[in-house]
Amino acid sequence: MNILILGSGGREHALAWAIRQNPKCDRLIVAPGNAGIADLAECAALDILSRAAVTEFAQENAIDFVVIGPEAPLAAGVSDALRAAGILVFGPSQAAAQLEASKAFTKEICDACGAPTAAWARFSDAGEAKDYIRRQGAPIVVKADGLAAGKGVVVAETLDQALDAVEMIFDGAFGAAGAEVVIEEFMSGEEASFFVLSDGEYCLPIGTAQDHKRVGEGDTGPNTGGMGAYSPAPVLSDALQARVMDEIIRPTVAEMASRGTPFQGVLYAGLMIEGGRARLVEYNVRFGDPECQALMMRLGAQLLDLLHGCAEGRLDQLAVNWAEDHALSVVMAAQGYPGDYRKGSEISGLDALPEDSFHMVFHAGTAEREGRIVASGGRVLAATGRGASLAEAHQRAYALIDGIDWPEGFCRRDIGWRAL
Ligand code: AMP
Ligand code: GLY
Repeated sequence: MNILILGSGGREHALAWAIRQNPKCDRLIVAPGNAGIADLAECAALDILSRAAVTEFAQENAIDFVVIGPEAPLAAGVSDALRAAGILVFGPSQAAAQLEASKAFTKEICDACGAPTAAWARFSDAGEAKDYIRRQGAPIVVKADGLAAGKGVVVAETLDQALDAVEMIFDGAFGAAGAEVVIEEFMSGEEASFFVLSDGEYCLPIGTAQDHKRVGEGDTGPNTGGMGAYSPAPVLSDALQARVMDEIIRPTVAEMASRGTPFQGVLYAGLMIEGGRARLVEYNVRFGDPECQALMMRLGAQLLDLLHGCAEGRLDQLAVNWAEDHALSVVMAAQGYPGDYRKGSEISGLDALPEDSFHMVFHAGTAEREGRIVASGGRVLAATGRGASLAEAHQRAYALIDGIDWPEGFCRRDIGWRAL
């Protein structure tokens, strides 16, 4: 099978790493890829948001199967264009990607299928939004409706913060993504992520994870794309997973199918858990980053069979082979991230590190310059360990971190603290 993966982050490095190990994978191209991905696949420059460019590239390279990593090409309808050209794709249609691209859409789906979630309202007028907030009181959550690279959510502790957030969003801080705001009841509890494959009809859970969104130790400081993650998430017991499948996931997938927009791909449910019950915070329509790095270490080569079977609508015939294992991923970011940071600093020590089914340093934002690896993004590396216990996975991940020589980078030393 000739396979094309779209994306360039740690998530796509982990997907490529798992897929490459499957003997059914003949040729593997990742577009655009990064310096770490280049060690195990061909990298190709390609505008992955262009439906025409991606389709043409896939045809020219006799690609049999495309795996779409990030949300932006999904929201841009790249999967629809590929399917129209007869190419097998893992990833939802543009219509089904609305589950991530519009928060109001997701809330409507939840209401229609009875999935538990925070009470909510939507507004396209700032005055009305503010009146509603004043009536509800704080704490309260204000969200730009559309895709805002994870930055469009303000969890307001005071009324003033919530009112400011409305101003900021309607002032255009997130462009078109902020044409509407969604205001939600604040939910307390513990957050966890649940990953489920859906072929449009059948659903297959493929793992749980918890991530650390804040930049600072003890989960403090500004939000980031994620500074580390571990899998499985102890808070999502088997019983609770079964309940989430019954109350949230299957009803959502059935509702999407009944609307003529079946969801095919990975549904990443962000859940808030309190008192043994889970409510939906949000859906993403792709793997989480860095949750994916931890998940892929656990799934390994079978990932390709799962994604391919999902795309072909054969999920009901598949099962996951679980090992009794744990994985933990620690992100190294450029100093200054998530604010301003410098690009181009050199990273050394990577060559001497082990690369096997227990240790992998996935690259998130790296480039090669004259034979050297340099940082080219905010989140740069994801050192990932796997072991029989979370403590062992943790020890292996941090042993990798300690072997990396990158004075201009930093990481949190406490990834996994809640579960350890
Ligand atoms: P989202 O992009 O919708 O996942 O929101 C980002 C983060 O904001 C979530 O991971 C939660 O930590 C927090 N959040 C979002 N909605 C709520 C809510 N209704 N109650 C409490 N926290 C929330
Ligand atoms: N780690 C959070 C995300 O990928 O959205």
